[in-house]
This record gives sequence, structure tokens and C-alpha cells, in this order.
Amino acid sequence: MAKFGFIGVGNMGGAVAAAAAKLVHPQEILVSAGHTSHAEAFAQSCGAVASDNDTIAQSAKFVVLGVKPQMLEQVLRQIRPWLEIRTDAILVTMAAGITMQNIADMMGGGYPVIRIMPNLSVQVGEGITLYDANDRVRQEDLEEFLAAMSATGKLDHVPEHLMDAGAAVAGCGPAFACMFAEALADGGVACGLPRQKAREYAAQMLLGTAKYLQDTSIPSAVLKDNVCSPGGSTIQGVRALEQGGFRSAVMEAVIAAYEKNKEFIK
Ligand SMILES: NC(=O)c1ccc[n+]([C@@H]2O[C@H](COP(=O)([O-])OP(=O)(O)OC[C@H]3O[C@@H](n4cnc5c(N)ncnc54)[C@H](OP(=O)(O)O)[C@@H]3O)[C@@H](O)[C@H]2O)c1
Repeated sequence: MAKFGFIGVGNMGGAVAAAAAKLVHPQEILVSAGHTSHAEAFAQSCGAVASDNDTIAQSAKFVVLGVKPQMLEQVLRQIRPWLEIRTDAILVTMAAGITMQNIADMMGGGYPVIRIMPNLSVQVGEGITLYDANDRVRQEDLEEFLAAMSATGKLDHVPEHLMDAGAAVAGCGPAFACMFAEALADGGVACGLPRQKAREYAAQMLLGTAKYLQDTSIPSAVLKDNVCSPGGSTIQGVRALEQGGFRSAVMEAVIAAYEKNKEFIK
């Protein structure tokens, strides 16, 4: 029996599968995609085995659903007959806004289901993946799964009812952070910096600030105050951000993403 089967290896399924291939023998990982050529190309890139949905449903212990939420029902309908004759398969979903109960309902029965919410940064081993599992998942199986996922970055257990809120920060956040990085670089270019240097400074500054916040546990508001010398330039920048509604815009972005996540729930 293969350990992992990834149905869908696009942006996110592919990033999680590639991370798993660092810790699980790649030959234990089956992958499928909508286009066979995509599955083959992905398999070749990390040493996994190109396969198909039916084979994965028949033989993988962890059946990881990496398709878009709107494709999920169709894929589950396809693999359901295979899973019905097995007792040892564990479904893993990463679909935004779809609960473990939704998955069980679509499958017409009680299945062990693990729900994960990874983010873009799993591609560089610095992701934050939120997870929860239903009560049919045995602790040792959950631990085996999490151990294989550990190359993605941090893993954090969160009760499922908080998953959509967590996803709005951790899952959608990379897009917001990239917009901030882009705007910083644009500002630098407007002040005469070459584009490449402006981008590099913005990215390294974000990395360093995030590390500082994590390593010291200093609240971000205190760190901000520490950088603002009385009468200095940073507080003038803070003033400009407040005039532009920066903090309110970011809060609204998270709330809008959260509301959209909830909309997906059937
Ligand atoms: N992107 C993110 O930042 C993010 C964050 C958290 C969670 N998620 C979740 O991750 C899931 C995947 O999103 P994504 O952004 O990775 O999507 P994506 O890049 O579009 O990838 C979708 C994958 O599904 C495959 N696929 C489509 N139909 C299939 C079928 N019938 N059988 C098998 N595979 C099929 C596609 O194959 P082809 O390439 O051959 O078409 C592709 O490999 C979604 O549920 C999303 O909510 C995404």
C-alpha cells in the first residue's frame, strides 16, 4: 500500500506533495492530476509515482484531495466506490470553506478525515499549516501524517470552527503581504532605487521583521513604537499609512476573505 496519494498536484497540492517527498520515500507517494502529463511532470520533479484517481483511491493510506473546491464533489463521486470497500483509507482535505462533515456527507458515510489549511510558504518550508481531524482518525495515524508534513514548516492544531478565520490570515495573507512588498518596492523606485534592490530590501525587511516578532515575542505595536524616534522619519511614514487607512484596509481584507471562505460551506 502506498502511504500517500495526492489527487491534484497544482499550486498547493503540489507544494504539500513535494514537501512530503522529502520525508517519505517518494516511491510511497502517488500523484494524479486532471491532465496525465501534469501528473507525470510533477512526479518526475520529485521522484513520486504518476498515477490516477482510481489507483490512489484503491491503494493510498492518506488520500489527499488537492483539487479546487468546486471539483471536489465530482472527484469524491469518482473515488467513492473504491473507498467504500476499504477500511484503512484516511481522507485529507485542504479545500477552503469545506468542512470535514461536508466531506463525510459527500461520501455518504463516516470516514476518517483530516482537514489542513496550508499556505503558499509551504513551498519554501516556512509555511503555516492549520489542521484538525475528526474523531475517526486514530492518534497514531494523525501523528504519522503530521510527521510527513513537517517539511512544510509549522503545523498548528486549531478547532475546525476557527479554520476559516485562520485561513483568512494564514492562507490569504501571503497575497496581502506580497501586495505590501510590491508597494514598498514601488515606493523605493519612486525615490530612485533600482527595482531589483527595492524588491530585495522589501523582502529581506519583511523576513527579518517576521523573525524578530517570532523570536522575541515582542508585540508588533511595541516594535513599531521602538522604530519610531520622536520627530523622526518613520513616524511620518506611519502618519501617511494612517491617512491612507492602512490598518483598516488590512482588517477589512481579512474579514472579506473570511466571509468568502464561509460562503463555500454547503
Ligand atoms: N493556492 C493556495 O494558496 C491555497 C491555500 C490553501 C488551500 N488551498 C486549497 O488547495 C486546493 C487546490 O488549490 P490550488 O490553488 O492548488 O489549485 P490548482 O493550482 O488549480 O490545482 C488543482 C489541481 O487539481 C488537478 N485536477 C483538476 N481536476 C482533477 C481531477 N478530476 N482529478 C485529479 N486532479 C484534478 C489539476 O490538474 P491539472 O493541472 O492537470 O489541471 C491540478 O493539479 C483547493 O481546495 C484550495 O482551496 C489553496
